[in-house]
Amino acid sequence: MKVGERHYHTIWLNEDGRSIDIIDQRWLPHEFRIVTLKTVDDVAVAIRDMWVRGAPLIGVTAAYGVAIAMTSDASDEALDKVWEVLHETRPTAINLRWALDAMRGFLRKLPVSERVEAAYGKAAEIAEEDIALNRSIGAAGLEVIREIASRKKPGEPVNILTHCNAGWLATVDYGTATAPIYMAVEEGIKVHVYVDETRPRNQGAQLTAWEMNGHGVPHTLIVDNAGGHLMQHGDVDMVIVGTDRTTANGDVCNKIGTYLKALAAKDNDVPFYVALPSPTIDWTVHDGIKEIPIEERNSDEVTFVQGRTVDGSISTVRVSPEGSPAANPAFDVTPARLITGLITERGIATASPEGLKALFPERT
Ligand code: MRU
Repeated sequence: MKVGERHYHTIWLNEDGRSIDIIDQRWLPHEFRIVTLKTVDDVAVAIRDMWVRGAPLIGVTAAYGVAIAMTSDASDEALDKVWEVLHETRPTAINLRWALDAMRGFLRKLPVSERVEAAYGKAAEIAEEDIALNRSIGAAGLEVIREIASRKKPGEPVNILTHCNAGWLATVDYGTATAPIYMAVEEGIKVHVYVDETRPRNQGAQLTAWEMNGHGVPHTLIVDNAGGHLMQHGDVDMVIVGTDRTTANGDVCNKIGTYLKALAAKDNDVPFYVALPSPTIDWTVHDGIKEIPIEERNSDEVTFVQGRTVDGSISTVRVSPEGSPAANPAFDVTPARLITGLITERGIATASPEGLKALFPERT
């Protein structure tokens, strides 16, 4: 998407043809910084410490990480090693394993001498595929927004609530939850987005609000606890969120707090949609609550917040008393029964084994 006058992806091949450049998301919205990742260690740190984040982008970054690994050693052993090193960076988003499996499965079949070039080609293909998937998700989700807009009084916007950042910054481009929103805006449909701040890392306040601002989407930042209140007062027409792992039965694992939004939506008859590309479906898991590993991040993310001070510097400040322990589960699972529909690149599925199988019959 555009930043200023330039169109950016979140990740691209450096002009040296070997390293990768990324938007370093730790500094947004205050500073737009690009960094170059040259080694597998750089890639692992960038994923673990959330310089890049969002399930699809984590997958694409890991795919390029495999390509970088191949430049120093393209053996089967090196492939297995880079798979392990990158796989352990973040446990919840299934796109990471999907991309690592895709790279290893593809490269294993090739002679070692051909693997370096092929790896960069395959990583680029995965990146391009992500963009295409998001465009298709956008088209499918746009139908829902159009339908809600058709029932609104003239001049009234469709009010959409979103949690975390499932925007273009979480993917290579366009985003998953935001793709239908951007397409609706392009089509001239009036929308207004409630952006959950998404403590503790504030992906909503820092990233989604920055995206909405940059692309002229009317929006209002709210604290995480405001959504239920707004729904009770008829201020939210629909919820769209992304997901880090969706199970074969339609349970959705996403940023911590998503479940509470889904409960509030159910109680207030507000449609609750989840946008996802098929690499986010874990066909091996049938019970999200019992089977999905939930990342527990450092408690400092809860006890400290980062922001820009009045003197213009970016600082981290403590918000709780020293000595109070904090817990930091990064994701939760929303059971399928609370979900109105799964917006995929093949259309909208009900959140159920049957719904998913109908769209992806090859997986049955
Ligand atoms: O911890 P993060 O910022 O990587 O979490 C991101 C989310 O939870 C997104 O909603 C999800 O990855 C979908 S991104 C299209």
